[in-house]
Amino acid sequence: MKIAISGKGGAGKSTVAANILHCLKRDNVPTFAVDADPDANLGLVLGLNPEKLAALPPLSDLQEVILEKHAGGGAFVDLNPSVDDILEEYVLPFGSIRFLKMGGIKQGGTACYCKESAFLNAVLTNVLLDRPEAVVLDMSAGIEHLTRGTARGIKTMLVVVEPTRAAVTTALAVDRLASDLALPKVLFVGNKIRTEADRSYLCTSLPEERILAMLPFSEEVLEQARQSDYPMENRECLVPGIKEIYEQIGGGDGKVKMT
Ligand SMILES: Nc1ncnc2c1ncn2[C@@H]1O[C@H](COP(=O)(O)OP(=O)(O)OP(=O)(O)O)[C@@H](O)[C@H]1O
Ligand SMILES: [Mg+2]
Repeated sequence: MKIAISGKGGAGKSTVAANILHCLKRDNVPTFAVDADPDANLGLVLGLNPEKLAALPPLSDLQEVILEKHAGGGAFVDLNPSVDDILEEYVLPFGSIRFLKMGGIKQGGTACYCKESAFLNAVLTNVLLDRPEAVVLDMSAGIEHLTRGTARGIKTMLVVVEPTRAAVTTALAVDRLASDLALPKVLFVGNKIRTEADRSYLCTSLPEERILAMLPFSEEVLEQARQSDYPMENRECLVPGIKEIYEQIGGGDGKVKMT
């Protein structure tokens, strides 16, 4: 299972990602949980220790490592350097999951920009195309970390959408970006659904045949987001309906496809 999750800020990307990750953890599937949203919050939603999270440097900040790898011979992109050490050292383990933070790619113009983005691209190429572990990528709506090359490794992109016009507009924009990158399968997940009107709004606003599921608004999920300590540790998946999504994208009963 190699999936990416995108959508408008606040739509529920990290909540959906964390719930799917808990399904993978429960099934003991070796998995990389990649926080690729510059406004990183997957780790907290997942229930990782806040102090350990704060101490984990984003990969984009590893200037010494980036320079060292780059010094070896120039272009990472062509040489596809080994980043296996990075995937051991700069991760937080959580059961069968290894969590890593990408960090933001700084805007062009800074001296290290090319090296940083080549490095992050090498990491993504490694986890998406070269390694057997499952991958869940929590992304911003810009999906800026992806290239046509790395997009080849993503089996399904889930676009999380709240029943609001702004969220729908962003979801359709993400769909266009995904199509530019030639992502093979883009599916929508309605979230925070309270009424029949919410449901029918999304059905008429999005390509209906690509709506995978509608997740209800859950007071429990919201309450959990208010708690400061390890909100999902030791709990089963909390959003009703997430199990069905997990199964439809290839998970469940130890039959998870690794590709
Ligand atoms: N189904 C749901 N029912 C109730 N609340 C929800 C649901 N899904 C998400 N939320 C709440 O909505 C808020 C935003 O969710 P989340 O952080 O997952 O969104 P996000 O898209 O990752 O946001 P960001 O762009 O800030 O990273 C959180 O407080 C979360 O608890
Ligand atoms: Mg988030």
